[in-house]
Amino acid sequence: MKVQFQGKEVNIKKIGILTGGGDCAGHNAVIYGLLRRINQANHTLPKEEQMELWGLLEGWKSLTRNPETEKDKIMVKLTTTDLKDSYKVSGTIIQSSRTNLFSKANLEAKAPEKAMENVKKLGLDCLVVLGGDDTLGAAGKLGKQFTFPMFGAPKTMDNDVFGTERTYGFDSAVEESVHFIENIMTTVRSHKRCFVIELMGRHAGWVALYAGIAGGADLVLLPEEVVDIRQVIKKVEKAMAFQGYCTIVVSEGAHLFSKSYPQDVNDSNKKLLDEVLADSKYALVKARHSLPKKLDSFGNEQLGGIGEYIFSILEKHTKGIEYRLQNCGHAIRGGRAHVSDRILGLRFGDAIFDFMLDGKFGTYPGLEANQIVPRDLLEVKGGAFIPEDNQLFKMKDAVDFY
Ligand code: F6P
Repeated sequence: MKVQFQGKEVNIKKIGILTGGGDCAGHNAVIYGLLRRINQANHTLPKEEQMELWGLLEGWKSLTRNPETEKDKIMVKLTTTDLKDSYKVSGTIIQSSRTNLFSKANLEAKAPEKAMENVKKLGLDCLVVLGGDDTLGAAGKLGKQFTFPMFGAPKTMDNDVFGTERTYGFDSAVEESVHFIENIMTTVRSHKRCFVIELMGRHAGWVALYAGIAGGADLVLLPEEVVDIRQVIKKVEKAMAFQGYCTIVVSEGAHLFSKSYPQDVNDSNKKLLDEVLADSKYALVKARHSLPKKLDSFGNEQLGGIGEYIFSILEKHTKGIEYRLQNCGHAIRGGRAHVSDRILGLRFGDAIFDFMLDGKFGTYPGLEANQIVPRDLLEVKGGAFIPEDNQLFKMKDAVDFY
């Protein structure tokens, strides 16, 4: 299809699409949304302008492979048959990886240059990159550095990408989390226990906030707040006294210590944790506590484990309460793609085609007041945290209303 790119007419025929970072619901829907428009346009385009959509396998990793010797591992041509059912499930049919072309080692190895040489060798005229801020940021840089037609779409269960009021993947993760919490809740009530349930979401507490409230948790602990364990203990005791059981949802990014916390909170959290670590009953917690933090290729810390600290501190410092710990892990990122993520993914895919028609390259669709707006890939960033004045923030702890 002939379109305008940087003041020149280009004929975009072979489009590559990739998914980077953690998988989520809606990736397949974006691919399908775009493919539908390509198919529709092909009916009226002359043969020499007809388009194909090719899935680049395992995200940016595909472009680090050798097109001469590893072609099968690099890309597959996509058809509507591939997508017809898969847009209803989470994950990505073209696989993903956390490959960072701009890591120090990859920059030294000239990975961005090699990736773009490979794009040429593969005959691709345009790239569509689906991912969070890291993946989209790389697309922006490559598009600019190599003057190449690029688009993106903002995914992530964490809902923490700037420029859009919703990322696809979030709603499904919330729905799955609520399902998880409610299943646990039957045991919570039957056995009159206190459960600590940890949910992913990185440094943004959106999933925990929505799922905790919707799932009926008594207490929700977020990365965006000061977690004062003395207050947590009081709230747990209040819930136990009121109803005989308690459910605490904790976001994996919540923390016990922070430079931004008042000193007395840091000190008292430390004292309570130190007493746990000194107790041989919690030798495993101590062992895990002493392990170095793991980083992914973008330098993001691998989270997970705050639930265990909260669980052990509560168990150690309260009396007569039976505790259990449950980390939902990746289960909430997978399974069904819920309706709103199917719709949002399809809308994003559809919008990318419109952006291409309008020559709006270097952009990704964002959602603003539920309308699609083009956002600049070079301006993408993460860290869209829950603002303090968010209405749900003060509603989050059901125990405050007992
Ligand atoms: O960014 C999405 C996310 O699911 C985070 O919530 C979580 O911390 C991380 O990915 C887990 O990454 P991985 O799948 O690489 O373990």
